[in-house]
Amino acid sequence: MSNDFSRVRTAEDYTAARAASIEDPEAFWAAQAERFTWRRRWDRVLEWEFETPSVKWFIGGRLNITENCLDRHVEAHGDRTALIWEPNDPKEQARRITYSELHERVCRYANVLKAKGIGKGDRVVVYMPMIPDLVVGVLACARIGAIHSVVFCGFSARSLADRINDAGAKAVLCSDGMFRGPKEMPVKSVVDEALEQCTTVEHVLVSRRVGWDVSMQPGRDTWLADELEHVDATCPAEEMDSEDPLFILYTSGSTGKPKGVVHTIGGYMVYTDYSFRNVFQYEEGQVFWCTADVGWITGHSYITYGPLLAGATQVMFEGVPTFPDPGRFWQVVDKHRVNVFYTAPTAIRSLMACGLDHVLSYDLHSLKVLGTVGEPINEEAWHWYKTHIGKDRCPVVDTWWQTETGGILISSLAGVTDEKPGHAAHPLPGVQPVLLNAEGGEITGNGEEGLLCMKFPWPSILRTTWGDHERCRQTYFSAFKGMYFTGDGAKRDLDGRYRIIGRVDDVINVSGHRFGTAEIESAINQAKGVVESAVVGYPHDIKGQGIYAYVITEAPVGDPEDMRGHIVEAVRQAIGPIAKPDKIQFVSGLPKTRSGKIMRRILRKVAEGELDKLGDTSTLLDPKVVDEIQEGRL
Ligand code: PRX
Repeated sequence: MSNDFSRVRTAEDYTAARAASIEDPEAFWAAQAERFTWRRRWDRVLEWEFETPSVKWFIGGRLNITENCLDRHVEAHGDRTALIWEPNDPKEQARRITYSELHERVCRYANVLKAKGIGKGDRVVVYMPMIPDLVVGVLACARIGAIHSVVFCGFSARSLADRINDAGAKAVLCSDGMFRGPKEMPVKSVVDEALEQCTTVEHVLVSRRVGWDVSMQPGRDTWLADELEHVDATCPAEEMDSEDPLFILYTSGSTGKPKGVVHTIGGYMVYTDYSFRNVFQYEEGQVFWCTADVGWITGHSYITYGPLLAGATQVMFEGVPTFPDPGRFWQVVDKHRVNVFYTAPTAIRSLMACGLDHVLSYDLHSLKVLGTVGEPINEEAWHWYKTHIGKDRCPVVDTWWQTETGGILISSLAGVTDEKPGHAAHPLPGVQPVLLNAEGGEITGNGEEGLLCMKFPWPSILRTTWGDHERCRQTYFSAFKGMYFTGDGAKRDLDGRYRIIGRVDDVINVSGHRFGTAEIESAINQAKGVVESAVVGYPHDIKGQGIYAYVITEAPVGDPEDMRGHIVEAVRQAIGPIAKPDKIQFVSGLPKTRSGKIMRRILRKVAEGELDKLGDTSTLLDPKVVDEIQEGRL
């Protein structure tokens, strides 16, 4: 009997699946695509080249992804719970939403959007906390063929405006406000402020969450609940092309301006479903919980799409890990009998720092599989997770991927392939990583380190960057001919497992979130009295990397704390509180080469405290600034 490898269950299966996927990738992925509802079957599986670049999967195929997330499950098991929504405050009742109910809510929301004149190809920005309307709104866009762009609710009005303008959004979906731990925070007023700088937005739909009396601009803003009263409970799904865009998600790179990563429907659908079921070894009936926010790619692929495509039951959590106390995650695991738990190393480290008492009062016996994502996990955190949360019986998958890859590319498959602390380990079937040296030569041996690239497309690879294809080519496909360059360095151990070392470009990974140094510098430079700045990452116990800023001011700084406050405020305004520098050192100059380039390597070494590894500083314009910088190190 032929094996389509749709579910890899043993190490032997994995070896065979990988071999099959490399030998005949088209046959391999066609077999996976067969699992879905297509209005029209594809003519060709794949066309690609990494020069322009141009990648197309399931060419000629017609479908709607929401029919695959919802309709087919409604037919088969409409009463199954799709979402268990756990609110911020444990005293508030959790809500269960079945596949049938979710289907109806998505259809109604889609009809509201349609009634507003929003349709295929229009861009809709979603700026909402982790409430069910976020997932419903996103799926409603997909239902009618509108392109969603979710912006994380922690971003500032200016960041939101930049994204709305870049996408040319016609509508914004938001809420009145949000709960976050003990705090209530504004959402609608941030949208209002952003929209002062935007001209394309015609409609704002507001979900009620905190019950505030927010200002509503007549003709533009409406309450979602009022609109829902007038619409039908059914909404035929728009027939889309496999290569039509599904969403834009903005992410930081090494330039000052975030770019809109574009994913298209068919390939993204096939890959998120495949990777979800295989990495987590999800079994029907299990409860899955990914703690990420839908504002990031993890919440797109492993909350909104992957689990729903697979017909899973999942927890969606509004709150934070430490509210009302650092036992909250584990309380929710016990309460909803979570079987598969997927979180970020930064959350593990911060809970680890709060002590074991918060863990030991919970049973955690429902857990079967644990996962991490977003940044390298240090061995101490890995062992703590494995021992105290997984009770040494749950496999831990360390999943490496990126906004641009759409789904998990390197990870062990839970309990199927081996795991090793700190190692993402194995490429998924269909994924072909290579390590290159700086000259672009392939490193074929094990036990070696290099630049991580992919030499063959997988179905959910980004297709372009919104409105600027050349930027996509430049960023990902120009460093090495014929390769997708990830921006990460990696090492293969002697047994061929991959260990991700971290970014090799000017991107800092703070608590699993990406920021470009240029983006933060341009925010700092907007603070009054700042002349110039340079930002680097440094090792941080909880966040993985912290942000260290070296700042030159116009005049000598009178009160350093006051000035630091201004700088932090400037970053809050430009990007959001998540990007605020942890350390700000005032300097009179920066180490520059004679051509004016800042030598970040030196700044990084000082921030890391590796003062004996500064290297040759004699080529600098003014080598003396290095002494001053070292002396003033924080
Ligand atoms: O450096 C890698 C790191 O996060 C980057 C991608 O960030 P983003 O697009 O925001 O997506 C994060 C969630 C998928 C990568 O280039 N990264 C992600 N996962 C891991 C990781 N580093 C080490 N180990 C991981 N498991």
